[in-house]
Amino acid sequence: MEKLRIQGGRTLSGQVRVGGAKNAALPELVATLLTEEPVRLTNVPAVRDVATIVRLLEHLGVAIERDNDKTRAQLSAFNGTEAPYDLVKTMRASFLVLGPLLARTGRARVSLPGGCAIGARPVDQHLSALARLGADLRVEEGYVVAEAQRLRGADVTFDSPTVGGTEHLMLAASLADGTTVLRNAAREPEVVDLAALLNAMGAEVEGAGSDTVVIRGASELGGADHEILPDRIEAGTYLIAGALKGDRLEVTKCRPTDFEAVIDKVQEIGADVEIGDDFLRVSAASDYRGIDARTQPHPGFPTDMQAQYMALMTQATGSALVTETIFENRFMHVPELNRMGADITVDGHTAIVRGPRQLGGARVMATDLRASASLVLAGLAAEGETIIDRLYHLDRGYESLVEKLGAAGAEVERFRE
Ligand code: EPZ
Repeated sequence: MEKLRIQGGRTLSGQVRVGGAKNAALPELVATLLTEEPVRLTNVPAVRDVATIVRLLEHLGVAIERDNDKTRAQLSAFNGTEAPYDLVKTMRASFLVLGPLLARTGRARVSLPGGCAIGARPVDQHLSALARLGADLRVEEGYVVAEAQRLRGADVTFDSPTVGGTEHLMLAASLADGTTVLRNAAREPEVVDLAALLNAMGAEVEGAGSDTVVIRGASELGGADHEILPDRIEAGTYLIAGALKGDRLEVTKCRPTDFEAVIDKVQEIGADVEIGDDFLRVSAASDYRGIDARTQPHPGFPTDMQAQYMALMTQATGSALVTETIFENRFMHVPELNRMGADITVDGHTAIVRGPRQLGGARVMATDLRASASLVLAGLAAEGETIIDRLYHLDRGYESLVEKLGAAGAEVERFRE
């Protein structure tokens, strides 16, 4: 089992380059099921979740060639219409293949995604929306068995903004007969990026990025070339690394307008952040104020930055209330941070972070993707050595983290025990 060893206290400077957004690459690779022409994506991050969706798509008949950050995908003929449990259980976004399989072949058998560490994460809104488009759905032995002669456009109102649900319906509706309107849709930048790819493939998607998305179904879609947008959560994670230990650390090839809520919050607590068109320059300050944060759907403060922000708040003066409104169990980093000397108490959906506290290196365990990022940040700020176990969580969403942090001056290495 690989582990990460961090010697804390090092100053971070120079440049960290941000990669393509994992949470856009996943639905955009699924979109290759919608056509038999080649779809070429660039700025594809080399992370475990992308490797997982590639395995599933190849299982379904998509030929995928990868050359660094470039991916060429082409569906020759469907090799079955089943997405097996052992592939879907490891990564929830695999469930998105259901809509495209239905739209293209009229049938699908896709495993329900299990829950995951951060919550039950049901897909009820995906299913009720697909049913409104005319899909006949039933659950058998943990699989969704679906049939549809032809999906037809419909009006769908989500109970709450669901990123995956919005993306799933955009994928399915792009080949439905007629027009689909998604109300209370998610507004994340990754939704907007998926719409740009679908439109490049010949779909007609309007309103992505607002709470109402209109998709006029096409009879068929073609191939396209598309560059994936920068990963705003990776960028936000390195911004916080700079707020903790930076000396004019540059976070490059990012899109600051995609994570303004995070940048505003880091500036509000007192960090020195310069904002460029496609980069940030950040230096640590000596004294930070504890400022509350409450996760919200985009453009609010992203739940995927909650754990990382909490690590920063351990260094702020006073108490900060960090409230998680999206997932029911996304505080698993708290006990690990407390083992490093933080003073955090959890009361339901709110964590109270009291600081500043000098963190000390410790052996800690990653529990989910963003919790592991939070432990890396704490290890950079801590005195002494931190060992992080279960690195596979981190590898799901952070490409070349050791190389990127090492090049900026951190003392960090992977090792096998
Ligand atoms: C996406 O997950 C992201 N994953 C998550 O990032 C992110 O945390 C989440 O959006 C919220 O921003 C990808 O894009 C691959 P949701 P998703 O559907 O689509 C509930 C990371 O760290 N819900 O917006 O699964 C759900 O339980 C990952 O990169 C239903 O109840 O999120 C959750 O409480 C973690 N029924 C809330 O809505 C449904 O049918 C938001 O879920 C769907 C969702």
